[in-house]
Amino acid sequence: MEENIKLKFTATQHAVNGKSKNSQELLPAENLASEISTASAPAGFNGDVSPEDLNKAIDEALKHNDFSQLFPTLKRSFHGRRLSFLDNASGALKPFTVAQAVLKYYLNNGSNAHRGVYQLSMEATSMIEESRKRLQKLLNAERPEEIIFTSGSTDSLNQLAQSLIRSKFLNEGDEIILTAMEHHANLIPWQRLKEENGVILKFVEVSDSGELKLEHFRSLLSKKTKLLSLVHISNSIGTINDINTLIKEAKSIGALTAVDCAQSIAHGGIDVQACRADFIVFSLHKMFGPTGLGVLYGRYSLLEQMPGVRLGGGGILDVTLEKTRFSGLPSRFEAGTANIAGLLGVIPAINFIESLGMDRLLKREEIIINYALKQLQEIRFLRLVGRARKRAAVFSFVIDGVHAHDAGSIFDDLAVAVRVGHHCTQPLLNRLGFKATIRASFSCFNTLSDVDRLVEGIYKAKEVFSS
Ligand SMILES: Cc1ncc(COP(=O)(O)O)c(C=O)c1O
Repeated sequence: MEENIKLKFTATQHAVNGKSKNSQELLPAENLASEISTASAPAGFNGDVSPEDLNKAIDEALKHNDFSQLFPTLKRSFHGRRLSFLDNASGALKPFTVAQAVLKYYLNNGSNAHRGVYQLSMEATSMIEESRKRLQKLLNAERPEEIIFTSGSTDSLNQLAQSLIRSKFLNEGDEIILTAMEHHANLIPWQRLKEENGVILKFVEVSDSGELKLEHFRSLLSKKTKLLSLVHISNSIGTINDINTLIKEAKSIGALTAVDCAQSIAHGGIDVQACRADFIVFSLHKMFGPTGLGVLYGRYSLLEQMPGVRLGGGGILDVTLEKTRFSGLPSRFEAGTANIAGLLGVIPAINFIESLGMDRLLKREEIIINYALKQLQEIRFLRLVGRARKRAAVFSFVIDGVHAHDAGSIFDDLAVAVRVGHHCTQPLLNRLGFKATIRASFSCFNTLSDVDRLVEGIYKAKEVFSS
């Protein structure tokens, strides 16, 4: 909060000072931007952050096991205790460099992209296209046009479902294989196709330990199978699915494949050429980027044959009152004004991931996984929901005799931010015999002391609600 207050204060001071002098000084954008970025920058940074500064800051964070210089939210306290943020599966916190890039767009640019022929607008356009290229590289996609900007994984999956139907890649009677582990975002859009277009949905069963049953998957494959769409890492129980095997087998019978990488994008990443998925979706806010943004990746040869779903300004070649000729990729899928400010936050988010390095990030998470598993398994009144052999740092559990929502309020008292409920995976929780769980999901900036505080909350909740 301190940073925000400081930031607001600086901006207000300028406006007031400006008014009292002359209107030219009312919003001295560049000065204001640099003062604000300096004001909000952690100690050691001065304005824009160079790659060397970022590397240095990450090295320092790792050395001291303290990422709060990079993630200012971590400095916040609630009820007199420092925040332990364990809700990263919902949305990761943001490095200050991401916030800075977003702010900078509003202060220094603010124009629409892909529209104007003037310098300011062209600058916004080229920054967006740079973000697209960085995402292409991150995914190892073949072409930047394969990266379609959406408002998030949910939007990507909705657009994918509708576009596959309209392109006739999917038709009445075709079978789609999903799993019983999907987030609602990778379920409901397909249910809509079932109701309106007569496709048939089949679901890979989940074992008691929360893993996909491979033999059952194989039994569902047939020449009627036209699409496999599945989650890479379960957002509610942390299972890491063996997508390479499933994709390979689905492709061997000619089916299309789509992977929901909402959780994996910042926890291991994805190489679209290596895994050979035809489509993948993810949200930028789960990879340290801005909210309200996502990606639909599609293989160029397929996307080329698919129509856009959201229609309007942009994405066209020419329009008459009678009909429209649509443009090529990716603009055909991106009608309307983009979240330009957010898209500019993509580059610093990727810079953060790349400077830290996926190996170091996963190493930190592995240490947390092993420690958390050991701690949680020792609590005799706790039941871990999902015990997959390959798992991410997402732990769902119930405390015997304590409702998840009641426990949630105890965690909040202790400034431990966890999620409680069904985590948008009601079919999965029902399958495993639960209505709601407590979920703690960790990221690279978490420490073992966050696990300790989680455990403290568990004992406290048991004590308060069992007496
Ligand atoms: C696995 C998975 N898929 C899809 C989504 C939906 O993402 P969004 O709300 O950003 O569209 C989430 C969000 O938690 C998720 O974890």
